[in-house]
Amino acid sequence: MENQVFVMDHPLIQHKLTFLRDKNTGAKEFRELVSEIAMLICYEATRDLPLEEIQTETPMGIATTKVIAGRKLAFVPILRAGLGMVEGVLSMVPAAKVGHIGLYRDHETLKPVEYYCKLPSDVSEREVIVLDPMLATGGSAIDAVNLIKKHHPKSLKFMCIIAAPEGLKAFTQEHPDVQVYCANVDSHLNDIGYIVPGLGDAGDRIFGTL
Ligand code: PRP
Ligand code: URA
Repeated sequence: MENQVFVMDHPLIQHKLTFLRDKNTGAKEFRELVSEIAMLICYEATRDLPLEEIQTETPMGIATTKVIAGRKLAFVPILRAGLGMVEGVLSMVPAAKVGHIGLYRDHETLKPVEYYCKLPSDVSEREVIVLDPMLATGGSAIDAVNLIKKHHPKSLKFMCIIAAPEGLKAFTQEHPDVQVYCANVDSHLNDIGYIVPGLGDAGDRIFGTL
């Protein structure tokens, strides 16, 4: 599991995560923090994008410079809470396409229920990064990746903000080929499937539906 899970210990991410967790942080600031943390994690998650050299004419002469080689990206937020991460990652990779997967956890069974799936038509030519702030039992992330795998993307990564050890274990067992990028691995899940200490219900805090 170690080779597959990247926990972002960057001070800017950790600082912002503190304010994100705070129960007194309101919806506006919460949304801004989710977006900023997503942008910073995206910076790391795209570290292995290959570069190619081109020649660029500067006012002083010709420079040999680098651009990202032909690879195409798609971001796929899991609705609802994953939507909060989209603006941040698009600010890093504006040319990426965005798919959507709608899943909610049944409150009794904690199992994900699918209600929407719309992926870019050329997803088989793209590297896909799935977005969801919370990896709790792992059920939603596992199902989302299963859905996307049916469309044969070039590669898949999963980006979240907080992961529970239980969810990470389940996810990495089910999808050992998918790297996970997160800002922290928390202590545990409580008996109703919430991450402790976590930040509460991410979707409700983003959309003010508490
Ligand atoms: C939350 C969260 C994840 C899921 C994580 O969504 O955004 O999608 O729970 O839990 P899991 O790892 O146990 O599956 P929720 O089902 O509350 O839906 P919402 O985003 O619409 O509020
Ligand atoms: N979903 C959330 O939004 N928060 C949790 O702690 C667990 C699942």
